[in-house]
Amino acid sequence: MPTFTINGISVDVPDGTTVLEAAKTVGIEIPHYCYHPKLSIAGNCRMCLVEVEKFPKLQIACNTFVTDGMVVKSNTEKVRQAVTGVLEFLLIHHPIDCPICDQAGECGLQIYYMDYGLHKSRYALQDKVHKKKVQDIGGQIILDAERCILCSRCIRFLQEVTGTSELEFFQRGDHSEISIFPDRPLDNQYTGNLADICPVGALTSKDFRFKCRVWM
Ligand code: SF4
Ligand code: FES
Repeated sequence: MPTFTINGISVDVPDGTTVLEAAKTVGIEIPHYCYHPKLSIAGNCRMCLVEVEKFPKLQIACNTFVTDGMVVKSNTEKVRQAVTGVLEFLLIHHPIDCPICDQAGECGLQIYYMDYGLHKSRYALQDKVHKKKVQDIGGQIILDAERCILCSRCIRFLQEVTGTSELEFFQRGDHSEISIFPDRPLDNQYTGNLADICPVGALTSKDFRFKCRVWM
């Protein structure tokens, strides 16, 4: 059982534990979007960067496995600046529609923006890439591609849990977006779970839309 240290706290964890999961056992939350405990590791959002002693560059905590004697820091200025930069990047094309978004109040972007962002966008509103909004993609779900941060949690859920694979990434670069295949709407018994799997307001539930605020 390896012993590792995070932010000065030592902890023993079973072999095969990631830094992100090990940190959770001592109450340290490392920011994350693409990580989900029940899904495979994608490592694509880059929010979980941490300093690991003897590693020249920051590492992603969700795909770095604890080894005996490892020393990790998640609370340094270097980490903070990196996470702030990642968040600014993720928000470049994000619409400013929090006041009418059903995810408001429990949105991963809002939470980490308050913790790491609080920046003014350096990207002019007219330069943002606008993707399709309010798409009925079947089942219980409405897709707003403009709000998606491309974390792939929904894709992995449909591949690994329901086995139906209805969602995929299309296009490239800043035009990349999540979508269903033509004439293949969501078709499984668990579509409602996608609203929970999505860490932002890109996949919302038809039942819940505009009926209530989460804090009420
Ligand atoms: S729709 Fe949500 S869960 Fe799917 S990739 Fe986009 S942000 Fe992630
Ligand atoms: S949570 Fe680690 S890269 Fe997304």
